[in-house]
Amino acid sequence: MTEIEWNDSYSVGIDLIDEQHKMLILRIKDLSEAVKHARGLEKILKTLDFLIDYTEFHFSTEERHMKKLDYPGLVPHKQQHEEFTFTLDRLVEDFEQDGATEALSNSINTFLINWLVKHIESIDKKFGKFLQEKGFGKN
Ligand code: FEO
Repeated sequence: MTEIEWNDSYSVGIDLIDEQHKMLILRIKDLSEAVKHARGLEKILKTLDFLIDYTEFHFSTEERHMKKLDYPGLVPHKQQHEEFTFTLDRLVEDFEQDGATEALSNSINTFLINWLVKHIESIDKKFGKFLQEKGFGKN
């Protein structure tokens, strides 16, 4: 099963974003654990809600800075955020219909974790570099 732990190779060079990514990873892990151990409907929905809320908060933080600094990669980056949000919404629907199935557990591990790692490694790092060049620094 795919697992994820923060390590410094995921750093985009901007502390604000790195800290949010760490929290996002924790929330995905919480959800994954809750589903894996079939923690029950309420607990799983709660962890899923936490993840969704935090994802919205994180994406809006990045997009706010992109707009403020006229980041040229805003549109494709925002599109990726929207795709991720759409998939999370579908997971909620699947879960509400089918409960904590193995398929759902696999979707969380393969899709959410792989997506996040790929997104951080490619598109978020580009944005991080842009922020550094703009003098945003590590704070
Ligand atoms: Fe860190 Fe673009 O999400």
